[in-house]
Amino acid sequence: MKRRIVALGTVVALGFGLSACGGGGAGSDVIILRVALNQTETHPSYVALSNYSDRLEEQTDGRMRLDIFPNETLGAQAEVLQLLSDNIIDLGIISGSQMENLSGDFLVLNMPGVFDSVEHQMPVVHDPEIVGELYTSLEDSNDITVMGGFTQGSRHIYTKNKVTSLADLDGVKIRVQESELNLAMIRALGGSPTPMAFGEVYTALQSGVLDGAENNEVSYFTQKHFEVAPFFTNSNHLVGLDYMVASTEMLEGLAPEDRQLLEDEWINTYEDHIQLWDEATQEAIEGAQAGGAEWVEIDQEEVRAALEPLADEFLTTPTQRQLYDKIRAAAPGQED
Ligand code: GCU
Repeated sequence: MKRRIVALGTVVALGFGLSACGGGGAGSDVIILRVALNQTETHPSYVALSNYSDRLEEQTDGRMRLDIFPNETLGAQAEVLQLLSDNIIDLGIISGSQMENLSGDFLVLNMPGVFDSVEHQMPVVHDPEIVGELYTSLEDSNDITVMGGFTQGSRHIYTKNKVTSLADLDGVKIRVQESELNLAMIRALGGSPTPMAFGEVYTALQSGVLDGAENNEVSYFTQKHFEVAPFFTNSNHLVGLDYMVASTEMLEGLAPEDRQLLEDEWINTYEDHIQLWDEATQEAIEGAQAGGAEWVEIDQEEVRAALEPLADEFLTTPTQRQLYDKIRAAAPGQED
């Protein structure tokens, strides 16, 4: 059987008008899907993607696999979204905050308080009844399709100087992901938000451009932010979400059985990630503490109350409200 390589996994070709990328074609083509990630090779998202690739390869006799580019090698997430839209790369792990900049409906899933926990979040973000329309809503305008999500777990604030109450955040420059909701979130907590791409945070903390940042334990550890911001305040202000975003053109170019396999194995991938996440969070806490980080408690009720008005401020359309209500109704303990 004739085999043709339809995707070239060479990063050097990017930006120089490479066109033969993406899956596409008949079931006999060799399909190498390029995936952009802004995390290190030790991060659970990298591990889950790499297991995903192994399973695809095994099930297709080596015909289909992923080529994963970690550490923002293909650019920060905002740039990666553009590469996906242009079908220059195939897949990318993109934070909800970036998606929010493309469509206000994604903002609903980034709202502090919308998810109680990872256990609430993961079934919701893979429930077509709730998110089906949202995930295909950018196909016409941006040529991207959302396949599902990886949790970011709970996000917390960490700083160079100790923060034990919201009053301590006064005038403190906290890095946020680039979105209006993130800016408002840190303002509501009393701090001064500074939007910045993920990969720039370590240096900015080190040089004092930032006084702190907010993220989960895993990124705090794997990005080594604990070295330059050693106080980790358990604020639990948001259960964050990363999306698996695909180039729609790539998906539509796949043979139906290849697309089915990609989608079926994605289910195993996010389930794998959930397991990996818990272990990685524990390891991150231990690792950061061994590296000198100190965990600081804060009144989480005060945090929750400070963030509560954001929903009314930001959820302004009936679609946003309905989505929010559906997600809240699916919270453990809220179901009929
Ligand atoms: C987490 C998340 C990333 C995101 C990052 C950030 O690490 O998994 O997708 O880019 O937070 O704060 O920018």
